Parts: sequence; structure tokens; C-alpha cells
Amino acid sequence: MTTTLDFPLFAARAEGYRPSPVRDFWAVSMQPGVISLAGGNPDLSVLPLGELGDVAARLVATRGLDALQYGAGKGTDGARAAVVRVMDAEGIAVDPDSIQITAGSQMALELVVKLLCDPGDVVLAEGPSYVGAIGVFAGLEASVVHVPMDDGGLRPDALEATIAQVRSEGRRIKALYTIPNFHNPTGITLAADRRPEIVRICADAGIAIIEDNPYGLLAFDGVTLPSLHDLDPENVFYLGSFSKIVAPGLRVGWAAVPRSARRRLQLAAEATTICASVLSQMIIEEYVTRHDWLGVLDRARALYLARSQAVQDALVAHAPAGTQWSVPRGGFFTWLTLPEGASASHVLDAAIENRVVFVPGTAFFADGQGQGNLRVAFSLENEATLAEGVARLGAAIATA
Ligand SMILES: Cc1ncc(COP(=O)(O)O)c(C=O)c1O
Repeated sequence: MTTTLDFPLFAARAEGYRPSPVRDFWAVSMQPGVISLAGGNPDLSVLPLGELGDVAARLVATRGLDALQYGAGKGTDGARAAVVRVMDAEGIAVDPDSIQITAGSQMALELVVKLLCDPGDVVLAEGPSYVGAIGVFAGLEASVVHVPMDDGGLRPDALEATIAQVRSEGRRIKALYTIPNFHNPTGITLAADRRPEIVRICADAGIAIIEDNPYGLLAFDGVTLPSLHDLDPENVFYLGSFSKIVAPGLRVGWAAVPRSARRRLQLAAEATTICASVLSQMIIEEYVTRHDWLGVLDRARALYLARSQAVQDALVAHAPAGTQWSVPRGGFFTWLTLPEGASASHVLDAAIENRVVFVPGTAFFADGQGQGNLRVAFSLENEATLAEGVARLGAAIATA
């Protein structure tokens, strides 16, 4: 079905592309005095902007004929070496040949789903899941079936039950899409002992895993857990990104994929963008090999920890009885469960009156769940602003 505003010759899949609810909140959050707990942007104030500026200027001046030219479809050798370094910092061993550089990991996800799914194929995903991934699945006409999580992340028992249920309906499952570390939107991390179990369940069931890991290096305590990729590299499509650990504006991400998927993935990437920005890839290469990027990341982690703590303290002080929330060990987000019967859309109306915004839980489900939930992002505002924002949110929950 098309809306009256749609061009009459659109394909059916055009209907899958809908405005991101996260972006909708930008307009409100830009109004003076409004505190935004909505967007999950990294805080770039920790970056050595002068150094990065010098790097960019030097690259254009000395290697400009390559930096500003088309590059290899798979990505530059330097950027792929930088990916190996970054994954190694997280304790993940990767075959350099498996790496495909993309314009952000969002593009990598689109390509992988495009290669895996025919219209109507099912992708399993945590309930809730990343709103941008839900958009990719909709645009490619894949159906999302959510698998419940708890404080330990995706539940293996629920995964097995969901696979059996979906198959009993005669539907074909192609992949499990999962964000194991500091999950967007809940902030929850998949328990270490569940990881091999989930990998085994998917391998036994003949279902590929798409492991989306943009936040893995953002543990507040620096502790990393085994990646699903390392547990089964020939069945896991790993997605990584420089957006949260360096800068999203460079638009450099990657996929590390099974041997048998590499050639088609490269061809699909070339069909989409020819190549990712060579200049951006060179900046990443320089930054990761010649600058103290891990020191910068340490400062970023300390910043996000303090902000997460400010949100936790403010929730203890201001959330009405019956409100529950996740306690993230890293990343950008906390997930709230409202008191029984409360609806996040009513809370949002009251919150906007109180000059605070957040993203309601329904944005993170493909099937209308999440009415009693909302996401709080703590990555961008300072502690005092977050505390005030959560106080206003608490008042809005009480009103609604
Ligand atoms: C879970 C998840 N995956 C992917 C992305 C997109 O990353 P990129 O900027 O690399 O496209 C985001 C951004 O918010 C995210 O939260």
C-alpha cells in the first residue's frame, strides 16, 4: 500500500522505508532548553581534532592523487590492517582477507541482508533491537521475529523456541541479527556462557549469525567478552564500525565474513558505492597506527561511565515506584520499563511539556511491542544536564 505522498511508480519495497523515529526527535531536541535523551551520538570532544586536521591536510597534500581517487572495492590495505588492529584490541582474531570495508557498518548490514534474504525470509533479532537494522530489514522485505532478552541478553531457550515456532509456520529463517555488547537500545551485554550456546544453536539450525558490534570497545571497565565471530567464523557475519570509537562522519565500517561469502560481498559493495571514501580510510589508517587512539578511547570510556552513573543516580532519585531500568557496563544506553499500565507515548507528551525527549520503546520493535518501554541515551550530554533530564523524565512518568 502506498501513501498519497508516494510517487506512483514506486516498487512495493519503497513502503519499507519509513522515517527514523530517532531523527524525528531531532527537531524537538534542537529547541532551546530541551534536554535530549534521544540520540545516541558519540561525544567527539575527546578527539584530537588538531592532529586529525593535520593528518587530513598532509594526506591530501602528499598522497592526494590516491586519497582523492577511486580505490579498491574491498577497501584499502591500510584500512583493512587498521581493522585487524582494532579487532585485536578487543581480543578478536580475524583473517585480513575476510574484511570488506564499507561506508559505515550500516552499509555492511544492508549488503549482508541483501545477500542473505529474499522477500519474506525471516531474520531473528533481539526484542528490542537497533532501529536502523529494523529499517534495513523492512527495506529489503525481510520479516523480523523478535527473540526475548533478559539481563543476560538474548535468551538461548527463547531462541530455540522461536526457531521451532517460526519453522512450524512454514517460514524460512536466514539469520539471527544480534548486538552482543552494550546492546542498542537496552545497554545489556550477552552473558559469556550464552555465547557458545547461541553459536551452536544457530549452526545446528542452519541459520547465519549477523554480529553487530559497534560498542564492544566501550566497556566502562575495559573488559571484553569472546566474540561470536571467533567462536564460528564460517557462520558469523561480523559487523564493525569506527563510528563510536573514532568518528561517524568519516563513514568507515566493515564486515568480516565467511570465506564463501567474500567474493559476492565485494561485488555487492562495488555495485552499491564502487568503494568507500579513500581519504577517510587513509585518515583511519594513520590515526590507528600512529596516534594514541587507545588513550583517547580510555578518556571516552571514563566520560561515558560518569554519564551512565549520573543517569543511574538520577533514576534512583526520581523514577516513580514500579519503574525498572537496565544497568549498562558500557556503551551509550539505558532501557526503562515503565510502571504497569503506563505508556511511553503518553510519557513522551508529558516529557515534551517538561522539555525533555527520549525515544519510546515501540521504535525498537518491528511488531508494535515496547509500549511500556523507553530508551535513555547518555552519550552526549554532560552529567548535570543528564541528571536534570532524568528528573524531568521522572516527573513526566509520574504525570502520565
Ligand atoms: C547497533 C548499531 N549498529 C550500527 C550502527 C551504525 O553504525 P555506522 O555509523 O557504522 O553505520 C549503529 C549506530 O547507532 C548502531 O547502534
